[in-house]
Amino acid sequence: MKGLINHDDIAKVLVSEEQIKQRIRELGAELRRDYANVEGDIVLICILKGAVMFFADLAREMDLNLQMEFMGISSYGNERRTSGIVRITKDIDTSITGKHVIIAEDIMDSGLTLSHLLQLLASRNPASVKICCLLDKPSRRECELTPDYCGFVIPNEFVVGYGLDYDGFLRNLPYVGVLKPSVYSREEE
Ligand code: PRP
Repeated sequence: MKGLINHDDIAKVLVSEEQIKQRIRELGAELRRDYANVEGDIVLICILKGAVMFFADLAREMDLNLQMEFMGISSYGNERRTSGIVRITKDIDTSITGKHVIIAEDIMDSGLTLSHLLQLLASRNPASVKICCLLDKPSRRECELTPDYCGFVIPNEFVVGYGLDYDGFLRNLPYVGVLKPSVYSREEE
């Protein structure tokens, strides 16, 4: 893909820029209320790369003293299906022992990535760990896991934008859109 983004590749806007902004403002207020009086430091972890936009916007809406950390994970499996076995490609730079961890994720699909990550983080003895995800596709769930904070419940469609990619591209769309099947079937030809 080169040149300007071809917005015609998007079948429809699923969540608009304005809706994202408004919902993150609400999530920020909820988190502020829940965490304003906790004992111990708060660490907001961005799961790279998809959560980058959500993480940056959410952090600014929380208005809490917190540490911003980044974690890179890669799951074994193919492009469309995660196995849930997670390998850390970039770890956070701070200890989370005794701290309140909030995981910022762009999307929860099978839930296997987060379920594995929760186990991994729990072994470091944090005071608490909560999941805050922008999008949730519960119809795809393969384990019993629900996000503690969720932006939007969405149907099972191929979504891109606001951090979510197609083949590494389209993360910088300001909205969440549904990719036309003709785009990915084009590549498969
Ligand atoms: C996506 C997303 C979650 C995971 C969700 O990441 O950011 O980490 O998949 O899938 P699951 O619930 O089925 O486990 P992806 O592997 O696409 O990496 P990226 O964020 O770098 O695009």
